[in-house]
Amino acid sequence: MALGMLAFTGCQDSAPYRGQDARTTFIDSVLSTLTIEDKAGEMTQLTLDMVCVGKPYKLEEPHRIDTEKLEHVLVDLKVGSILNCGGHAYYPEKWHELIGSIQSAAARKPSGIPVLYGIDAIHGTTYTTGGVLGPQQIGLAATWDTALVRKFAENAAKEVLASGIPWDFSPVLDVARDPRWPRFWETFGESPRLVSDMGVAMVKGYQEGPSPIAACLKHYMGYSRPLSGKDRTPAWVPERQLREIFLPPFAAAIDAGAATVMVNSGETNGIPVHSDHHILTEILRDELGFEGLVVSDWEDIRYLFKRHKVAENYKDAIEMSIMAGIDMSMVPTDTLFPRLLAELVHEGRIPESRLDESVRRILGVKYDRGLFGTGGMPPPLEDYPEKASLEGAAARAALESITLLKNKGQHAIYPEQPILPIGGTGRILVTGPTANSVNALNGGWTGTWQGTDPTYNTPGAPTAVASMREVFGADRIAFSELGMDFDRTDIDAITRNLSPRNTQCAVVFLGEMPYTEFVGNVEDIELFDNQQNLVRAIHATGVPVIGVYVGGRPRTLYDIEAMFDAFVMAYLPGDYGARAIADVLSGAFNPSGRLPFTWPCHPSSHLTHDLKHTELEGDGFKPLFAFGDGLSYSSVNTTGINIISGATASIGDTVEVEVTLENVGNRSSTETIILFSQDRVASITPSVDELAAYKQVVVPAGATATITLAVPTSTLGFIGRDNTYTIEPGTFGLRIKGQETEFELIR
Ligand code: BGC
Repeated sequence: MALGMLAFTGCQDSAPYRGQDARTTFIDSVLSTLTIEDKAGEMTQLTLDMVCVGKPYKLEEPHRIDTEKLEHVLVDLKVGSILNCGGHAYYPEKWHELIGSIQSAAARKPSGIPVLYGIDAIHGTTYTTGGVLGPQQIGLAATWDTALVRKFAENAAKEVLASGIPWDFSPVLDVARDPRWPRFWETFGESPRLVSDMGVAMVKGYQEGPSPIAACLKHYMGYSRPLSGKDRTPAWVPERQLREIFLPPFAAAIDAGAATVMVNSGETNGIPVHSDHHILTEILRDELGFEGLVVSDWEDIRYLFKRHKVAENYKDAIEMSIMAGIDMSMVPTDTLFPRLLAELVHEGRIPESRLDESVRRILGVKYDRGLFGTGGMPPPLEDYPEKASLEGAAARAALESITLLKNKGQHAIYPEQPILPIGGTGRILVTGPTANSVNALNGGWTGTWQGTDPTYNTPGAPTAVASMREVFGADRIAFSELGMDFDRTDIDAITRNLSPRNTQCAVVFLGEMPYTEFVGNVEDIELFDNQQNLVRAIHATGVPVIGVYVGGRPRTLYDIEAMFDAFVMAYLPGDYGARAIADVLSGAFNPSGRLPFTWPCHPSSHLTHDLKHTELEGDGFKPLFAFGDGLSYSSVNTTGINIISGATASIGDTVEVEVTLENVGNRSSTETIILFSQDRVASITPSVDELAAYKQVVVPAGATATITLAVPTSTLGFIGRDNTYTIEPGTFGLRIKGQETEFELIR
């Protein structure tokens, strides 16, 4: 029996539906009224295009609901979830209009269950125009500041929820091990530990703030290291490495209470993850105990037969993926899924009890987000948060992310001047293809999927050159505009009259224009020839070159590295990034970012900080910049490392390490102390460095600071030969910036 036009509004708030038992009772009571078709509908997620005027991917402007389609999708097909925008961002008023219509139609479904709306708000409000856009995850990781990241996510949740959306497809918990991969910048970098900590912070920010939304951990798992470097191509990840590198962030974020998980679109070891029972059920449910909702990625159930060729047809693909453990299909543009799924149950190929499991989880998310109380209706527009109250964390994160990787020191012509910060009064040449683009600062998932259309940028957001003018004075800045495709003639025009006599320094904004997913696939990660030639030509004039790299993955630039007098990594810092860069260059802010990945020298030679001893044999591996690198405008020396407790520790104890720092410069500096451990001998080849602990401290000018870091020995294990977590007794090294100590781990 269906509930029939059930008006849920208000019922969630009333007794007896309180607490965990009340939740179960409520969900069971709703579930008991649902037909197989209702359940198949709940497990279906369509894109907004499917209920709007026009065709999917080609909606009529202005985007608006097609009431007939909406009625069909919700009332006839009983669809439980809608996602995405129709191709570009909307103002909050538009979101309210769209979601209001959708939820009104949902109330007319036989079950009356509200729709769960989901969106990719991955660095702030991707798809709500005028909202706060902060750094992309790779920049957030460079802050090493989990409290700030949590605050940033909490603010993002306020705007996403105020737009009427309770579910966010964020954070990305893939671990970035290959800079060719076009979603490198969507991650928190290469260290499983840093990714885990940042992921937990972001999940708590989304889910535990004053305006909570459901987080979605993606893309579970093994997505980020395809052999070819290209998106959604095969990865070979043995179980040991899967568990050692790619699983821990998901495990940590699930422990922190993450509500939902999205599946990896690719294949690992020949098995498309959307059909992998071992990964989706044995590991995720049985081992990690995840009780939340698992959603597929975009069209990925259909792709089991269309692309991966492991299913004969769509129906087989649906059976395969649902039996592997998926709860909801991000279909997103066909209406066959719910019908075929219901048929599979009627034919006895999928037990109805399997649908019940999934629908329970889906109803659970809807219940936890209070949808049965509000009918899923957006909160009143008058309650939309003041932008000024949300900008602080995004702007701060942009500042804290900027990473100074090289600062050569004295200026040849003005010896009283260091290269950075830029002092004096001389003329500053600003050029390079990312100097005058808000899109370049924001990256993909900004206003549009690819983030390339300026129409949907935040009104008034400054470009880098605009902030340079603001901070240094417009008359000091000489700007030469360049697109991405500039050539020798453009370079000649810039350098023709350039000389150290008329120009104090050149700030060259390098990098990439936005992209995501397959659009960002590359054949080669070396920096574009024209950008390298630009640097060469400016350097040849004798004018000091300050490189500012605006981009989400490290492009190699070995041949020109020596030509930079200073080099700054800005990542994709968002709408507040232009000002942050200018404030770092001027010295208004003393940089504190640290690189969350290894920047290779050469395109064909990339390793990560946790490399093995054999990789250091012979010529070894010398990155251009190492994981954890980052300078400030002060000189802070590490003067000592001492074990204060646990010099001989039993497994389970915590080793406490005291590190002393001395700031011999003349500016207060925020230091991130990064402590690496080394298991000297182990039954699985140990890494030279593992990230063991990190801590931030402000060291005032001229001051000495003593900081204690804790290393729980329970975290010093690895995945052993039997594929289980193992901690072996023995000697462990602890290293920080050239200082090293040891302790003994005993049983
Ligand atoms: C991406 C996901 C995203 C989804 C919904 C997919 O193409 O891989 O990261 O959440 O689209 O927009």
